[in-house]
Amino acid sequence: MPSDSDELRRSTTRALSSLLDDPPAVALTTSCTHALEAAGLLLGVGPGHEVVVPAFTLSSTANAFLLRGATLRFADVDPATGNIDPNSVAERTTDRTAVVVAVHYAGVAADLPALLEQSRTLGWGLVEDAAQGLYGSLDGRALGRWGRLGAISFHRTKNVSCGEGGALVVNDPELITPADVALDKGNDRVAFDAGVVAAYQWTGLGSAWRMPIESVERLAVSLDGAAERQRRRHVIWDRYLEGLTDWAHSTGSTLPTIPDGAEHPAHIFWILLPEGASREAVREHCAARGVEVTQHYASLPTTTYGRTIAHPDDACPVAEQFAARLIRLPLDPTMDDGDLDRVLEAVTTSTR
Ligand SMILES: Cc1ncc(COP(=O)(O)O)c(C=O)c1O
Repeated sequence: MPSDSDELRRSTTRALSSLLDDPPAVALTTSCTHALEAAGLLLGVGPGHEVVVPAFTLSSTANAFLLRGATLRFADVDPATGNIDPNSVAERTTDRTAVVVAVHYAGVAADLPALLEQSRTLGWGLVEDAAQGLYGSLDGRALGRWGRLGAISFHRTKNVSCGEGGALVVNDPELITPADVALDKGNDRVAFDAGVVAAYQWTGLGSAWRMPIESVERLAVSLDGAAERQRRRHVIWDRYLEGLTDWAHSTGSTLPTIPDGAEHPAHIFWILLPEGASREAVREHCAARGVEVTQHYASLPTTTYGRTIAHPDDACPVAEQFAARLIRLPLDPTMDDGDLDRVLEAVTTSTR
């Protein structure tokens, strides 16, 4: 008999699935990092394969494929969005390329049609690191639904969260059963639970990647209140854009561009400060007014570990600019209008 826990896992998975317009399968995982690791395993990535990832991302995007023994190539990003630039991808792909990973920075869609076109021509698989992508879409199709596999994060920093958690979105029907086995430590547990086999057994490679029930409970609560939080997030994001557009023009700062056809989740509001501006001075100016602005990723090929594995041809100057000059504004649905005024006043008086 199914337990209450089984039912909660099913209903929470169904709720997520419906936000993603019901992919062939979606499974709750211990993290987005682990969902990406599962993707590397499921796509058979191994030694001799190359995987292209954007330089401006978290280490998890890269580690998932390095852990499988692949060689990494770093692609530069588009200055309008911080997302992987298909022109740079074209320069990095070879006949050994097995996978290209698109990260949707701030939940704003990467150029998925261009990447899918290259994927069809050159035969590599597209994986979406949609860590920040829930509630994002392009041309009406949810982020995470474009690649063979997608990975979503429910880390405490995300719009929907359970502390640590994630999801693997399976868009390729052939990967549904292998994905279940991979998440259940290599066992055909799902077939057993469905009554298809009398006892479960070891049928493949896998790990302990299934989300524990305590996290599912937290995720269910977070999903329940998400629609209302999303509404407030959009009010804040739109207010920032309106309040900063003139200032950005006059100072030479860059604000996010939302591509035609894209819906974004109001996850991050970022500003690329002008060349030559001191980010530290801006940070201190804002901190003195009670406003915390934060940087984001480093450019991976320039990091301590990245330097040891980066291909010498993989310079990523735009990613380096994002790493050096980007700030993120506070964006929390509990902020009231007075908080927003304080942020706008601090930023607009930081550089003139
Ligand atoms: C682009 C990207 N990929 C992967 C991750 C990892 O997500 P998680 O913390 O759920 O493992 C993050 C985390 O913020 C991220 O920003």
